[in-house]
Amino acid sequence: MAEQVATNVHWHEGEITPEMRAENMGQRGATLWLTGLSASGKSTIAVELERMLLANGKHAYRLDGDNIRMGLNKNLGFSAEDRTENIRRIGEVTKLFADSGMISIASFISPYRVDRDHAREIHVESKIPYFEVYVECPLEEAEKRDPKGLYKKARAGEIKGFTGIDDPYEEPESAEIVLKTHEMTIQESAQALYKLLEDNGII
Ligand code: ADX
Repeated sequence: MAEQVATNVHWHEGEITPEMRAENMGQRGATLWLTGLSASGKSTIAVELERMLLANGKHAYRLDGDNIRMGLNKNLGFSAEDRTENIRRIGEVTKLFADSGMISIASFISPYRVDRDHAREIHVESKIPYFEVYVECPLEEAEKRDPKGLYKKARAGEIKGFTGIDDPYEEPESAEIVLKTHEMTIQESAQALYKLLEDNGII
């Protein structure tokens, strides 16, 4: 994990408490971290959940793997080291969004358990609610969907180190919720997450 490099830096405390933010926003900030294979349905579920939340007057923001890799993380590729740095940065960004009172919805393959655990840890340390969501889909099904044609390319050897093909995906062992997307509709998955937020007093 990244080391603290800068010296002589000091935390500057503000005056706004989490309770004041919650009062102001009409909700608690939280992070929903969606992990799963490419084409498992993470981004589609995230879009639907964000729509539902806003339709109900809540405040949410999505951070999506492909999108973030076109901006903040455009200097990162798919080596193990770069994936770790990708997830480290997004862990910090989701934490900031959640700290601001938003419901941050991250959808990243995030294939390595240790990286996901680190994202959880930094939320827990800051007492920010965090929910790991395993968007579970058998590889065969994801490969059948293949909306971007990437599995086909990976099988043909045109993409090296593709998750699920020649790069590992470490399944979550203690996710707060598992969505089996080959058995559930997008609506059902998004509703399950909405309910999770209600049941935990976030909204
Ligand atoms: S992660 O592994 O670092 O968490 P992230 O979620 O940001 O990945 O990005 C995954 C997306 O990048 C996939 O949905 C796919 O569109 C694209 N992609 C391109 N190359 C690869 C690769 N080698 N492995 C996985 N996804 C890839």
